[in-house]
This record gives sequence, C-alpha cells and structure tokens, in this order.
Amino acid sequence: MAERIPVLAANWKMHKTIQEMEAFFKVFLPLVEDVHHREVMIAPSFICLKDARRIVAGTVVRIAAQNMHSEEEGAFTGEISALMLRSIDIDQVILGHSERRHIFGEDDEFIAKKVKAAVQHGLSAILCIGETLEEREAGLTGKILSSQLDLGLNQLEATEYDNISIAYEPVWAIGTGQTASLDQIQEAHGLVRKFIEERVGEAVAQHIRILYGGSVKPGNVRQIMALEDVDGALVGGASLDPESFASIVKYEEN
Ligand code: 13P
Repeated sequence: MAERIPVLAANWKMHKTIQEMEAFFKVFLPLVEDVHHREVMIAPSFICLKDARRIVAGTVVRIAAQNMHSEEEGAFTGEISALMLRSIDIDQVILGHSERRHIFGEDDEFIAKKVKAAVQHGLSAILCIGETLEEREAGLTGKILSSQLDLGLNQLEATEYDNISIAYEPVWAIGTGQTASLDQIQEAHGLVRKFIEERVGEAVAQHIRILYGGSVKPGNVRQIMALEDVDGALVGGASLDPESFASIVKYEEN
C-alpha cells in the first residue's frame, strides 16, 4: 500500500486579525518544532496570507488559501485568483467548502473550474465534499458524495490528481460538536477511494489523501486518524487555539 503522509489542516474561516494570527504563531510554532513525518497546514483569511507565509518560513507549517476564483483576472469584485495567490507564493487552496456551497451558492460546475484552475497554476487543492443531514437521513450519502466527486473532478486529467486531496466534511458535523461516528467516516472515505480508483486507477487511489472534517478535537483526532482510509483532518473551531491545534497535530500523544 502506498504511504500517505498525514496532513493536519486548519481552516480558520473568517477568524483572526493579523495581530491575532501573530499571537497564535508565537505560541504554536514552538509547540510543533519537533513534529516530523506529517504536513501541517493553516488556512487563514486572505488578509493574513502574506504575513503568515513570512512567519512560518523554515518551519513545518504550510499556508493555504480558503478559496479562490476560477478565472485569472476580470470583473469579479471581491474575488482572488490563482495568479494572485501564486504571486505571494501560496501553493495550497481549499475549494468547495460546504460554507462556500451553502452560504455563497457555489455549485459543482463552478467548483470544478476552480479545481482545474488551481492545478493548472501549480496549486494543490483540497476539494471538500459532504452530505447534509436531510441527505444522510434519506439514505443519499453515497449518491451525493459520488456526484460531488464526479462533477468536481470532471475537468482533470489523470496526471493532475497528484495535486488533489479530498476532504470529507459531513455538513451536519461542521461546527456542531457532533462528530460523525468512526464507522460513518470510514464508510465515506472508503467510498471516496473506490470512486477515485474507478475513475483513474488503483495507483492514484492509493496515493490520494482523504481528510475528515467536522468537529475534530484533541479528544477524538487519534481515533479518527487511525481509520484505514483517513489520511488527515481539516479542523475549524479547534484549530483557533494554538495549544488545541498543536495537540491535534501531535494526535498520537492524545
Ligand atoms: P469544525 O471543526 O469547526 O466543525 O469545522 C470543520 C470545517 O468546516 C473545516 O473546514
């Protein structure tokens, strides 16, 4: 089986000013100094990206954007492009987060264009997928995840999957304190890996990283990370506090 380096990623959403970000890193960086054999990623607001890059230079931490537009430039007030992210050396981006889908109305077609634009500009993308509570209760989870993957990845060549990770984030588990059960997580992740295998083959499927997101905390991350098809975690609320996120990064110690 391919070795997949674990990735612990923080999605700060619309939290933290520049000053708050600086205060976070002052405490966080010494706590993760001795961390090896994993990727640590933090996605602050656009405003913080450039300073965050400077602050973490030479450490284990990588900085990601939380979103971007699919076009390089144009009349899209308030948007940021892949070119702009690359101009400040950002090479990671989260796309299709459920808050982008549900609050800002992004559809699979738009997200697919973003995924393609990201990889074409040398960014690695984390594509987020996940079902709502109504969809789960109606027995539609597998169908929804397959459809989001199918549409979200449909512009990619097989060679471009090297720069893609998938984050499974059940909408009902985000920010609710209600983590999906270990069985539910493994089942969904297994389905994602199978989908990738069917689409582009076993080698890519064994290589691609699948992250879980939705109320991950220091107290549950170790069990979640131990699941066969979980290769990482995408953490919202519990990533805002430096001690809490450091403890998530060092999940085997919990
Ligand atoms: P919480 O960890 O706050 O549930 O958020 C998860 C999430 O949306 C990460 O992208």
